[in-house]
Amino acid sequence: MSALLQLAEVTNMPLVRRAFATAQHSLFEEVSPPVMPSVQFLGNKEKLLPWIFSFIPTSTFQRPLRFLDGFSGSAAVSFEAKRRGFQVTSNDMLQSCWQSAAGLVENGTATLSLQEAERLFEQTDDASELMRSLFSGRFFSESEAGLLDFFRANVEVLPAAARALAMAVMNRALTRKILMGHFAHCQALTYAADSARIRRNPSIAKPIRQLFFDLLPEFNQAVFDNGLVHRAQNRDLLELLHDEADFDVAYFDPPYCMSHGDYQSFYHLLETFSRCWTDKEFVGGTNRYWPPLVTGFDKKATVVDAFNSMFELAAPIPLWLISYNDRSYPDVEMFRAMLLATGRKVEVHRYQYQSSRGGKGSVKGSHEILFVASDE
Ligand SMILES: C[S@@+](CC[C@H](N)C(=O)[O-])C[C@H]1O[C@@H](n2cnc3c(N)ncnc32)[C@H](O)[C@@H]1O
Repeated sequence: MSALLQLAEVTNMPLVRRAFATAQHSLFEEVSPPVMPSVQFLGNKEKLLPWIFSFIPTSTFQRPLRFLDGFSGSAAVSFEAKRRGFQVTSNDMLQSCWQSAAGLVENGTATLSLQEAERLFEQTDDASELMRSLFSGRFFSESEAGLLDFFRANVEVLPAAARALAMAVMNRALTRKILMGHFAHCQALTYAADSARIRRNPSIAKPIRQLFFDLLPEFNQAVFDNGLVHRAQNRDLLELLHDEADFDVAYFDPPYCMSHGDYQSFYHLLETFSRCWTDKEFVGGTNRYWPPLVTGFDKKATVVDAFNSMFELAAPIPLWLISYNDRSYPDVEMFRAMLLATGRKVEVHRYQYQSSRGGKGSVKGSHEILFVASDE
């Protein structure tokens, strides 16, 4: 047995091979756990990962454990599952979320060199004027918005995995640039000219290009191969479950209906950037696309049916972990009753936030809930 394997076994660390690992790298570098670049996504579970994963009894399942992250958002949970040696299927209906999972979870080898990255910012006749026409003077200066059009055209020449990684870095750069990290307000340019705010958060005054290059090394180092094939999907969860439910554990982190469920208003700009929408209207002060993609999970009128369909379609999956909070509809008791009606054993665990984080629904005093529903 190699020294590397021995160390991995003794320390119980996942044996990972970094994309850049070579024979010259030290033993420590080869087995040190890869780190997910910090995320800034509403409702992300970055801080709750040890708590959530403590409810998965890994000894019960054969290796590798097949893990579904049904509403993957930032991909923080999918990344952690990959880091723990699970075989991951990551899914989100938003393409901008899918890019994070495709770039950092499905992708185990492709990184982006500085030269490749430089080329993404070059002027090109292939660029559209989508971002410049929609968002100049709203979120960015005209030249910054135009740069996004160049980037979006140039990124197409990259192979799929590197393209997803590049888009993930850019999406993250854009949320750094905009105060509060989302696009549901129209104050970005005002804030970016306010010296007091810049002192507190210098990113809002930095050029997009600089933010991109500041982030690139963190993303490159996070690309790793745990020896398994992982998948990133970009589908409505119910459609995905209809086609496949062959997993050991499913983690569901739905939008918190009536709490902060409208992800398409918060991240519309990233989705427009990602999909290069041509068949949408752009409405409101923020120029968000219209009509939105349809999800049953974000409206009071449809959410109960959506959950019941999810339970029915996910029936073959032995263990479900479902994140929830105590300000959502349906409320915790009703949701528990819906889960019990499936015939599963249901536990309800609570995590109290120590400080304000994550926007509405994740504030001090609110509880993050984890339902653990098993078919045993
Ligand atoms: C609470 S967030 C997930 C946060 C994620 N766990 C993290 O740590 O970043 C909910 C996600 O569900 C996605 N979503 C909403 N409806 C969906 C559907 N029908 N199918 C798949 N994804 C959906 C949203 O786009 C959003 O990214």
